[in-house]
Amino acid sequence: DRRFLADYRPYPFILEQTGLSFDLAPDATRVKADLALKPRGTVEDLELDGGKDLRLMSILIDGTAPDPDHVRRDGECLIIAAAALPDGPFTLTTEVEIDPSANTAFEGLYISGGMFCTQCEAEGFRHITFYPDRPDVMAPFHVTIRSDQPVLLSNGNPVRQEEGLAEWHDPWPKPAYLFALVAGDLVAISDRFTTKSGRDVALNVWVRPGDEDRAGFAMESLIKSMKWDEDVYGREYDLDVFNIVAVDDFNMGAMENKGLNIFNSKLVLASPETATDADYERIEGVIAHEYFHNWTGNRITCRDWFQLCLKEGLTVFRDQQFTSDMRSAPVKRIGDVQALRARQFREDQGPLAHPVRPEEYEEINNFYTATVYEKGAEVIGMLRRLVGDDGYAKALDLYFERHDGDAATIEDWLKVFEDATGRDLTQFKRWYTDAGTPHLKMTEEWSGEGRLVLNFSQHTPPTPGQDEKPPRVIPIAVGLIGPNGDEVAATRMLEMTKAEQSFTFDDLGARPVVSALRGFSAPVILERQIDNATRAFLLAHDTDPFARWEAGRDLALSALTALAQGQEGGGEYVDAIGQLAADASADPAFRALCLNLPGEEEIATRLSASGITPDPDAIHTARNGLARRVAEAHADLLSSLYDEMTVPGPYSPDAEAAARRALRIAALGLLNRIDRGDRAEVLFGTAGNMTERMAALTCLIRRGRGQAALQALHQQFGDNRLVMDKWFAVQPMAAPPEQAAEVARRLSGRKDFDWKNPNRFRSLLGGLAANHAGFHAPDGAGYDFTADWLMKMDAVNPQIAARLSTAFETWPRYDAGRRAKARAALERMAAMEGISRNMREMVSRMIAAG
Ligand code: ARG
Ligand code: ZN
Repeated sequence: DRRFLADYRPYPFILEQTGLSFDLAPDATRVKADLALKPRGTVEDLELDGGKDLRLMSILIDGTAPDPDHVRRDGECLIIAAAALPDGPFTLTTEVEIDPSANTAFEGLYISGGMFCTQCEAEGFRHITFYPDRPDVMAPFHVTIRSDQPVLLSNGNPVRQEEGLAEWHDPWPKPAYLFALVAGDLVAISDRFTTKSGRDVALNVWVRPGDEDRAGFAMESLIKSMKWDEDVYGREYDLDVFNIVAVDDFNMGAMENKGLNIFNSKLVLASPETATDADYERIEGVIAHEYFHNWTGNRITCRDWFQLCLKEGLTVFRDQQFTSDMRSAPVKRIGDVQALRARQFREDQGPLAHPVRPEEYEEINNFYTATVYEKGAEVIGMLRRLVGDDGYAKALDLYFERHDGDAATIEDWLKVFEDATGRDLTQFKRWYTDAGTPHLKMTEEWSGEGRLVLNFSQHTPPTPGQDEKPPRVIPIAVGLIGPNGDEVAATRMLEMTKAEQSFTFDDLGARPVVSALRGFSAPVILERQIDNATRAFLLAHDTDPFARWEAGRDLALSALTALAQGQEGGGEYVDAIGQLAADASADPAFRALCLNLPGEEEIATRLSASGITPDPDAIHTARNGLARRVAEAHADLLSSLYDEMTVPGPYSPDAEAAARRALRIAALGLLNRIDRGDRAEVLFGTAGNMTERMAALTCLIRRGRGQAALQALHQQFGDNRLVMDKWFAVQPMAAPPEQAAEVARRLSGRKDFDWKNPNRFRSLLGGLAANHAGFHAPDGAGYDFTADWLMKMDAVNPQIAARLSTAFETWPRYDAGRRAKARAALERMAAMEGISRNMREMVSRMIAAG
């Protein structure tokens, strides 16, 4: 059954207070719920959500059992007839029994490593008790926990803590998806934060005994986030405690439960020996993300799940701003664009394309996507570009003032911008309602009399269910670079609103080179006539770091797409990249980004966006060939970079040190193609940090000499789950394509392939999917292996299975042979007995596109 945005209707009851009382036992937990309700208008039937896994023990209305004829269960609902309800306020008391130990889907209350924990977003609370499990029903919560576990946590402020019992009160009305409970043998690393208005907040990061020494960085990140949100958005924390808990079994990254954030342990625990620079940056960013949700998500939540981007797009945008402020803004921007193209453009161009605000779904968990999150953030970035920094600040102040305590919509959000800035956002709203990535064509006319005209046209290809795509407003940031390399026109924000539109630049001396879509000012595919010499010129001279990087990227991609089609190319790229790598004045992180060739997936996406069927093997060969040419042409330079970029002294995850390591590793990756892996071998044995060791290990596997290093790593870290996850991921990822599925198959037979653990499963299956030519091996081995495991997982944890099924989302773009094999795998999954709603929706959307 599908849900539609258009069907929204307020809940017919007002929930004034929620009381919960838990008696925890692994296989028979009792949950008593006291809901203080009152009808919104005339009394209707009271519908409560509740999974089939709830055993109803008792039900009382104002302390009295209703006539059993007035109570019925209907699918995932409990319905109490209006006839059994008073026409004023009343208290509904239910008691249910649940079995957390049988909860392998990790939705609701479950057990991870012996500890009780919860995940309620989006609709997990209905597996805990009968409840109006929808974000627009909000109430203060009072929670009592009885358990022999030593640490008992829930949302809000502690009221009572004694042996075997804890009471928590959360005064801020919240929807059920923000509820959390944790009970376990945990230790905290603790600190304090005083808010601007003087509230003294106790901060704890709770981990399992033995993990304390890897939790410090998470705490530092939390404190930085709290300070930043006060300084930049004027948002203060609003409770006396803030708890973070790390758990090993977690479907997603982390969760912003009010005052009690629960994290996948890989986004909390870090030490130099076990975590890479990328892990550290990600931890800092996700800690910030969840913390920022306290205002954008919790204090102001969503009216319904169609509005998910209201909290996620905005919170991603905020965490991106935070990371830009903490680290290098250009490097962050380039990284975000790379990720957007790799995940969101891919989604937008395939069968799973959907609007930033979807209008229908079968299973909401399938819509925690790159489109809702990352494109949702891009849309806010565009809004900010259009209204300016001051307009944005005014609008956000108004948003917090007007909607604090609300369950809001995208309409509310846009209205705030209209009211604060006077702008009409009717056309802008299409970014929320229309799926697909616009193609933006640019041509130039130079009059010879100092006048340059830029002509733009926009076109968005159809997406499932949306054939017509009217023009959108597109902010296009443009600057001009003179022939001698100086900027002759600073960034101007062109505002395109029509299907075709021209913009004029006057009083120019000589014909300039156009630096277009600076900072990636809109999530579009820019198509322009440009030769390699001009790209190389921009790579050397553009004053906008994103556009400069993009010029190098384009140079690489044009070479790679030519090579993958059996044509010549790459000369200009090899020369230009050598010059850039040698430019000691450029940030090492920036040089590293430029030195890393586009991935095979990105090359395939580029080819298919221009209507060419990608050949994974040809792409693989082309990329290896070009990388080798770069290494041969610049061996001395790369070798000295590799030596110079050594970071002396003890490890620090800061941006500067990470930048040097990034450049060092980029050089290593290229040199590895001509030194037989000798440098990698030495580095693996000597590096004191995981960043360099993982890079070295990847190089060794690529040279076919990874066995000893893999064994050594296993020996050293066999009992460290997070390191072993990397160990499982890197092998199928770096394997030669024709062996990738077999490598994955062999690993899947190991005893320590604990496949019910989401991280472990994701490592292996995701590692294979990240090997483009390996996953798409022409014999279909990658498809079959993946389908077999998704089917097995679907019976245990549908959310994880459905998420990883996106490995198939690009299938329609390949050749007939691969398509037939992918289709067969998809159909096999679609036909499985007892298929979950999650998987059914995913595979049927993917099959429909073929
Ligand atoms: N709200 C969380 C975050 O982005 C994500 C949780 C989503 N969980 C899920 N099961 N869909 O911070
Ligand atoms: Zn979020």
